[in-house]
Amino acid sequence: MKKPLIVANWKATKTIKETVQWIKEAKPALEKINSADIVICPSFTSLPFVASMFKDTNVKVGSQEVSKFKKGAYTGEVTVEMLDGLADYSIVGHSERRRLFGEDDDDVIKKVKLLFEYNITPILCVSDLLQTDSYISRGEIIIEKSEKIIFVYEPPSAISGGGAYRPDNPEDVNLAAGKISEKIGKKIVVLYGGSINPENVNSFLSQKNIDGGLVGQASTDPKVFMDLFASIKLGGMVD
Ligand code: 13P
Repeated sequence: MKKPLIVANWKATKTIKETVQWIKEAKPALEKINSADIVICPSFTSLPFVASMFKDTNVKVGSQEVSKFKKGAYTGEVTVEMLDGLADYSIVGHSERRRLFGEDDDDVIKKVKLLFEYNITPILCVSDLLQTDSYISRGEIIIEKSEKIIFVYEPPSAISGGGAYRPDNPEDVNLAAGKISEKIGKKIVVLYGGSINPENVNSFLSQKNIDGGLVGQASTDPKVFMDLFASIKLGGMVD
């Protein structure tokens, strides 16, 4: 298997002070990890700090969201241009954004297009196979740029959201990830997201069609996050 990609989505969990503490605890060890590629997605307020701390290291930085608007009178929005130089990646289409903030597939396609204008890699969440069809039918860009998109199969029912862990069955996830690739018609990168933790991570990464994980809760505690990489290494997931 190739090196897995592990993306940390801190969601709305950290103040700047807490970010500083997380970095202090995790940075020295994270910089030595070569068993996985790593992307950290903090909140917007912590993004400049995290980006400067990991500048010129193996750890890359992403945003959790981006505006569908390019520029202008859109109070409160953070545009792609504002991320330029700060983030190499941006999560888009997360089911929490859809459920709680009313975002739809057309919004997501607009964001993907804008991200490509600034060479920021979209980390595109897909809740189910129907949504893959919907993305494909709405935007040619999804197929055209599919090799430059990180797809994430993230069934909303598997997201812990601060509650009990209830990951999907790894074999089912493998099947779904394979079907997403089939629909796109090319070999693409597909991560799994949903209650990944140090105990279950290898059961997902050992699946043929899963190239890594989008990790919520287990990425917010530096110790648990480091345990995740220790498990990956122990599991011998890397060639
Ligand atoms: P959990 O890892 O907390 O289930 O969150 C998954 C997720 O939503 C990552 O984006």
